[in-house]
Amino acid sequence: MTFASETRRRRTFAIISHPDAGKTTLTEKLLLFSGAIQIAGSVKARKASRHATSDWMEIEKQRGISVASSVMQMAYRDHVINLLDTPGHKDFSEDTYRVLTAVDSALMVIDAANGVEAQTRRLIEVCRQRDTPILTFVNKMDREVREPLELLDEIERELGMPCVPMTWPVGQGKSFGGIINLRTQAMTVFESGSERLPQDFETIPLTDREQLQKRFGHEFDTATESMELATGASPEWDREAFLAGKQTPVFFGSGVNNFGVMEVLDALVDLAPPPQPRVSTTLVNRQPVTKEIQPDDKDFAGVVFKVQANMDANHRDRIAFVRMASGRYTPGMKLKVQRTSKELRPTSVVTFMSQRREAVEEAYAGDIVGFTTHGGVQLGDTITDGASLQFTGLPFFAPELFMTVILKNPLRTKQLQQGLAQLGEEGAIQVFRPEIGGPMLLGAVGQLQFEVVQHRLKTEYDADIRLEGCQYTGARWITADTPAELRTFVDAYPQRMSRDAADTLAFLCTSPYDVRLAQERFPKIHFHPLREHA
Ligand code: G4P
Repeated sequence: MTFASETRRRRTFAIISHPDAGKTTLTEKLLLFSGAIQIAGSVKARKASRHATSDWMEIEKQRGISVASSVMQMAYRDHVINLLDTPGHKDFSEDTYRVLTAVDSALMVIDAANGVEAQTRRLIEVCRQRDTPILTFVNKMDREVREPLELLDEIERELGMPCVPMTWPVGQGKSFGGIINLRTQAMTVFESGSERLPQDFETIPLTDREQLQKRFGHEFDTATESMELATGASPEWDREAFLAGKQTPVFFGSGVNNFGVMEVLDALVDLAPPPQPRVSTTLVNRQPVTKEIQPDDKDFAGVVFKVQANMDANHRDRIAFVRMASGRYTPGMKLKVQRTSKELRPTSVVTFMSQRREAVEEAYAGDIVGFTTHGGVQLGDTITDGASLQFTGLPFFAPELFMTVILKNPLRTKQLQQGLAQLGEEGAIQVFRPEIGGPMLLGAVGQLQFEVVQHRLKTEYDADIRLEGCQYTGARWITADTPAELRTFVDAYPQRMSRDAADTLAFLCTSPYDVRLAQERFPKIHFHPLREHA
């Protein structure tokens, strides 16, 4: 197979959904139908153990589990599909945003009874910012749910883009008869149960109207009427518009009953995009210049979008998950971390074939490669086999929750500093060091992050800490038009200035008015609620 066809046959996507909409179930069925796993139940089992979030003794185990399941590769038809898992809990939404920077498309799962829910809405925003193409799966049609027209209306409003139905439901709940496939003009008849393979469902062509009416009666007539209304109101399917994030294909089904899932798997292959070019900056005559890295470029380039530290506490190792943007990875190749210009010296390199970790033999753009190292790699790092460039766009969000770190045993200061530096690099929490000295501050987007970090500092670094509330409620990363301007600003607010794990200057605020007041006083200072790794 040629280099270009290797990249073209890859699809890398994430599922976005509100908890309980059916993400785990659908993931499992996709793996099952692509042949990546043989028996259902394994993904589910892992989710169950992840749910025991109150018992922190379980964290170690859970992290092991979440690494194994955070990237899943499957082969389907002539394609290689990489499915990236996103943490379900809203307190870890930052991780989810970062995962979304590593995919080329997203599959949105919606509970047909609940429509677009809060967490999905936030994830949609992130996709919209990046124009990530979104496919939509409306799940749980076997339940008493909302009318499909009403759902489409809501999805269109929330997404800000038209829906193009690809399948259409006949009935719902107890009278769910199946789905009409608009492309093949045939109805697939629903049967409940989780044993059935997709090809086992009966299909009846729409031309056999008599039979369909006889079997599904009123439900069939209502469905064809609403389907005509929907297709009449929605634009023609336009792949270019979908790829530009301007329309979404919609599928209906029931994950738990294996129904309507194959249509989604096929759509991922037929409709979703192959690896896309990635924007990077490179220095030309010391000036940053934007450059698009094409997936077919022969040189290896990739970005670290996730770091998982201390999988084995005795070895202080960490896995850096690299999304390949270009080139071909082969074992033993020499790679460099651009930030430090140092060689990346992994102790092992893995891919994530059907949830098992396996030594990588070769990988291409779109694939995720896990490098185990003893350090020297941070979130957002660009890895290449020589070329000097830096990918942009990995977001860090200004925290809204802050705590002061008090070390219980002052003799453990070194361990605390090491722990905070590493957990900060991993993105588990944001660490702020006040410029005037004093205790470190932790900044989080969700409360659970504090608990995880406190637990991990103790078990992984032997640093027992207490967390105390503090007056801060926000932070803004600071840049200025001129260095002089910046100095004046820093001098005006010495006690508010701090540096984060990447040594970037941040202004700590106690209320939203703080920023407004500071902005009025210093119009040439820029306050950023989001920091992109650059
Ligand atoms: P999540 O990962 O998005 O949080 O959702 P998950 O797949 O775990 O599904 C949440 C619940 O919804 C599960 O029920 C699951 O069985 C159910 N579910 C998923 N798809 C469908 C569907 O198409 N129809 C119906 N009726 N239910 C569906 P649970 O009771 O929480 O777990 P379980 O005991 O069934 O495993």
